[in-house]
Amino acid sequence: MQTKTHISARDLTVSYGEQQALNHISIDIPDKKITAIIGPSGCGKTTLLKSFNRLLDLQDGVRVAGQVLVDGENIYDPGVEKTHLRKRMGLLSQRPTVLPMSIYDNVVYGLRIHGVKDKKILDQAVERYLQEANLWSEVKDRLHSSATRLSIGQQQRLCLARGLAVEPEIILGDEPTSALDPVSAEQIEQRFLVLKNQYTIVLVTHILRQAKRLADYVIFLYLGNLIEHGPAEQVLNNPRYAKTQAYIEGKFIEEPTIHKEITLQKERSADYLTSTLLALDELQVDQVLKVVVDSEPTMNEISKAVELKCHKILEVKRIDLLHWEIIIQKQNVNFII
Ligand SMILES: Nc1ncnc2c1ncn2[C@@H]1O[C@H](COP(=O)(O)OP(=O)(O)OP(=O)(O)O)[C@@H](O)[C@H]1O
Ligand SMILES: [Mg+2]
Repeated sequence: MQTKTHISARDLTVSYGEQQALNHISIDIPDKKITAIIGPSGCGKTTLLKSFNRLLDLQDGVRVAGQVLVDGENIYDPGVEKTHLRKRMGLLSQRPTVLPMSIYDNVVYGLRIHGVKDKKILDQAVERYLQEANLWSEVKDRLHSSATRLSIGQQQRLCLARGLAVEPEIILGDEPTSALDPVSAEQIEQRFLVLKNQYTIVLVTHILRQAKRLADYVIFLYLGNLIEHGPAEQVLNNPRYAKTQAYIEGKFIEEPTIHKEITLQKERSADYLTSTLLALDELQVDQVLKVVVDSEPTMNEISKAVELKCHKILEVKRIDLLHWEIIIQKQNVNFII
């Protein structure tokens, strides 16, 4: 069954001053599933997550180009109301950020901002969302004591309750269990598995086993580039590209040495396939060819043709608005056939 897309990035490029943090990212994030963003430190995971609720706008010197569509609407269009947008998304950060007030006041903080005053409604919300965050039984007798006295794991579940209380559609988590002990981390993980029936969840994690436990889909980023994305099962167990494979195996991610490079522009189908195969003929086994093309269909056709000939595609990436790069390693084709 085709899953519905909730968030889409289209050609999303983000830079902090001179530093480009995300490079032409295009992805679809499905509704009511858990999507994990993985990749080494500094690859752009937090930046991608923050681009989804325009939290990047709060920082000086950040430039965002391209689009992020939520339910088909570009959230970077002028006129989009940021407060309303953020209400649709709950954010859990690395460390719990409880407010210096009571447990009760933390949960209803968002509701009060949105004008809810009725004590009965607030009471009901406190119980309901603390239950949803699996914290109710631990705090129901001390709702009016300070939230800062809770353990870190409880504080993170309180933050989850506070986020859920404004009834978001999407939960964004930036390594939300990384400051927690194993038991608290598992409680949060268990919550996510229940909550995904109702919410779209996007989770940054550098713990591969967590991605395996939780994710339905995985996005692998490296140096600001989208290297691979797809069903978790496929990306984590049977990745398509060399860099994903190296990351998953805990190996050093190497840039391949390029032995030959060709650029193909607006050529007819037969020509660019022939040019690519001719260029591969000139290489020795295991040497690497870089092919730069100027359209996505061309990129797809070359990739398909090269794979049919049993050569190995190490990477495919978009390098700018108009160009794609295919990195191909020549295999011993005669031997294989
Ligand atoms: N406010 C900022 N100003 C300048 N550069 C930044 C800023 N925030 C992030 N960067 C840079 O952008 C790149 C991506 O950063 P980001 O925080 O998105 O990475 P990350 O994958 O979340 O890393 P980590 O796993 O360490 O949290 C990095 O090179 C980082 O140094
Ligand atoms: Mg980060």
